[in-house]
Amino acid sequence: MTPTPVLLIGGGMIAHDQILPALFQMQREGRLGEITVCAQHGRTVKALAEAPTLRKAFPERSFRPLPDYTQGDITRRQPELYRQALDELAPRSVVIVATPDQTHYGIVMDALRAGQHVCCVKPLVLDVRQSLEIEQEADQRGLLVAVEYHKRFDPRSQMARTRYRQGLFGELKLGTAVLMEKWHYRHSNFQNWFTCEETDSFVYIGCHYVDLVHFITGLQPAAVSVYGIKDRFPNGNEGYLWADARVLWENGACLNVQASLSFPDAAPGPNTQGMTLYFSGKENGAWLQHSDQYRGMKYSFNEKLDSPGGTQYVEPSPDYFLYQDFGGPGLVPWGYGVRSVDYIVSEALRIEHETAGLSGESALAERRKRIAEIERRGIAATPGNSRHNELVCQAARLSILNGGREVEIQRKPPGVKFRSAG
Ligand SMILES: NC(=O)c1ccc[n+]([C@@H]2O[C@H](COP(=O)([O-])OP(=O)(O)OC[C@H]3O[C@@H](n4cnc5c(N)ncnc54)[C@H](O)[C@@H]3O)[C@@H](O)[C@H]2O)c1
Repeated sequence: MTPTPVLLIGGGMIAHDQILPALFQMQREGRLGEITVCAQHGRTVKALAEAPTLRKAFPERSFRPLPDYTQGDITRRQPELYRQALDELAPRSVVIVATPDQTHYGIVMDALRAGQHVCCVKPLVLDVRQSLEIEQEADQRGLLVAVEYHKRFDPRSQMARTRYRQGLFGELKLGTAVLMEKWHYRHSNFQNWFTCEETDSFVYIGCHYVDLVHFITGLQPAAVSVYGIKDRFPNGNEGYLWADARVLWENGACLNVQASLSFPDAAPGPNTQGMTLYFSGKENGAWLQHSDQYRGMKYSFNEKLDSPGGTQYVEPSPDYFLYQDFGGPGLVPWGYGVRSVDYIVSEALRIEHETAGLSGESALAERRKRIAEIERRGIAATPGNSRHNELVCQAARLSILNGGREVEIQRKPPGVKFRSAG
């Protein structure tokens, strides 16, 4: 059987740092066919194709670039080119969507209409109605849609989930989570789009911990209030660069999430993040604490690292993404970022492999059966089993723009509304 081709739409930071290396490794292992990367500009795919880290790790690999940067104007913007790439792809291949948040809905729907299984970076969409449409379109066609929440593939998340479900922690009552990105983000392209009207620190980064608390406990969020503090970017734009969120859960538990673009550039590590959860058993309390940026390593180099936010003293994390030298050729990517992409793509390949001899209605029914099972297992985030993320983000935006007013989450039918007084 010819290995399945894959189309990666978007060639920016996350494509370079995590997704393309994971796909190259799967291809190297004979599990994937041709990889096409489609960006808006030729210059983006050119930079990706020539990226020194990728060349060093995958000297024997390449992808088909769209636009073809060897011909034509690499600065010409071609936002519709991905549609041509979708047309060229054999039906029920795999499409990875790694474009900015507000483009996900349109691109995911186009990929589904082209008959493709989809893996989309988080957040799937910004409005819960869009996630319902995506779910319906995918179900009609028997296609998998999975959202790449890689914290779910961090071994410590898996350990906590297993133990929670064994009853070792009892029931969640209180929790506090923190995710502070470095100050230098304010000087990046963030200042052009991370404005009060578009997003905020909680919706962009803090919501990872809401998904994680759900992943560990299975609880559903019930209400959200977010207090945001406005601050100015160097270009004068205003953003909610500090946010404090209170998320109430269906059992009455409360999670406090603080997020910001404020962690000192001089501090070690690319950010500070972690969570502490407090639980109640029948006759005892229980406790869980994760330091998610400090994984037990401390390095002090003889010079300061030459990168944005680079420091001389660092606390690197080997767990998210790491290139390992196993003697070549190239290097082998490893970490929960790689496992997450591999897991989702492998599930799409498995669905196709197991239903390969079938056609028509019976093929559709068998694909749906497998997708329902993936959704039920709850390891991969699907539109249906991770709708809490869209609901929390939608509620959070409403709250932060209204001075932190509490917003209730309704699950059936899914929606959000202000909690009425009294
Ligand atoms: N922790 C996480 O899970 C995590 C981390 C980083 C980014 N992300 C998500 O990944 C997505 C991309 O983020 P990024 O940091 O890589 O952004 P980026 O700006 O570096 O890259 C975005 C890419 O999308 C491309 N693009 C935009 N519109 C396109 C179109 N119509 N056709 C083809 N390509 C198009 C751009 O050309 C660019 O290459 C965002 O949704 C972001 O939230 C998730």
